Amino acid sequence: MNVNNSIAIDFNLSAKRLAHFRGVAETAIAINKRYDLHCSDEKLYPTGLYHDIAREWDSEALVRYAREHNLAVSEEEMAHPVLLHAPVGAAILAQAGMDGQQVLAVRHHTLGSSEMGTFGQIIFCADYIEPTRTYLDDTDRARLLEEETIEALCMKIIEREWRWRRDSGREASLAGRAFYRYLEEELGR
Ligand SMILES: [Fe+2]
Ligand SMILES: [Fe+2]
Repeated sequence: MNVNNSIAIDFNLSAKRLAHFRGVAETAIAINKRYDLHCSDEKLYPTGLYHDIAREWDSEALVRYAREHNLAVSEEEMAHPVLLHAPVGAAILAQAGMDGQQVLAVRHHTLGSSEMGTFGQIIFCADYIEPTRTYLDDTDRARLLEEETIEALCMKIIEREWRWRRDSGREASLAGRAFYRYLEEELGR
């Protein structure tokens, strides 16, 4: 099924958000090519385009949806409801006909997970480095893409995220730490 044509983006999306959606979709394809990962561009593009489909819901709506649909969510996601836009978005897209790989990628796009596979890692990285993100300049982006593997790129992104969290007085996420340990093992570090 062509998810691209089946979901109306009919909620109040800012131009900035739309540019982010397109940025993730296009960057996902670029990363797939850069690391020669052989994932399907036809599946990556709509996943990037819709990964934040629930991002503009307020906390109350996200918590209500997660409860009503009995979604498996973590304590840290419940404690910081904005994080619920990932599992809620995944549930919506599963209903709209996205396949398991796409749904897992959306499910884990914010914190990362060992469960999401290479396809999910592409979306995770694309979400962080797409061109409208202002915390990176072109030099930072080029440097990140010099990492030799998608796993190493994920680790660099998590490390940057940790630095940012530390500098703004926040703790690293539990799921992010588990994902980082998994990547270390994958790379034999
Ligand atoms: Fe997101
Ligand atoms: Fe995003």
